Amino acid sequence: MRNKILAANWKMNLTLPEVELWVKKFNGFNWQSDTKEVRVYPSALFIPMLQNNFSHVGAQNFYYEPSGAFTGELSIEQLSSVGISSVLIGHSERRELFHEDNAFITQKVKAAADKNLSFILCCGENLAQREGKTHLHFIEQQLKSALSSFDRSKLSLLCIAYEPIWAIGTGLHANAAQITEMHAFIRSLLLELFGSDASSVPVLYGGSVNPENAASIFSCPEVAGALVGGASLDPHVFHQLWEQL
Ligand code: 13P
Repeated sequence: MRNKILAANWKMNLTLPEVELWVKKFNGFNWQSDTKEVRVYPSALFIPMLQNNFSHVGAQNFYYEPSGAFTGELSIEQLSSVGISSVLIGHSERRELFHEDNAFITQKVKAAADKNLSFILCCGENLAQREGKTHLHFIEQQLKSALSSFDRSKLSLLCIAYEPIWAIGTGLHANAAQITEMHAFIRSLLLELFGSDASSVPVLYGGSVNPENAASIFSCPEVAGALVGGASLDPHVFHQLWEQL
């Protein structure tokens, strides 16, 4: 059995003093578990300092080329050289605000897999797709494209996060029936693409997870944990999620 995962995606939040305070508050709670793990995805600036406190610190973003004239970018090589544990790929904010299309995301998956770096591949439909009942088809396209050159021998690197765009930062979350349907669909797609070994790929939910809705989300079949934005910025709230996982 793989560990359940509670992952904090801080996005572009928290300054250095705020990160220091976050760690101090975090250390005031009990996070011991044999069955669950915490991951932190901070701004890249704070990765080295957080590695002193957390066994799993990941990067929110990178560029797929190994090195070169790409001002402002970070490569997998650079991130690996400081001992990063994993990366996020395909987050809807990167897709929408920074125009990362499916082809670009396929390249990022290839770069991470080539360097044997674990990654969380995010997928999620918008509200029009959900209301138009094309959400399953859309997720299938996103995942098939992102994983088109991914080899099943690397499956242990893969984690999926289903994050419906209409639920991110909106206070609206997918309900249990919607999550159950989508997670079952993603599992069957992974099994179709990669065979029975794909049964152990963790599939997380993300989108307005909070202490009020966490129990119902975590009780859905196939939900292996959560990728959390807003509710990860306060260690007290984040710990309330941890207790329910
Ligand atoms: P919120 O939890 O703030 O809705 O963000 C979810 C998310 O985008 C995590 O990657």
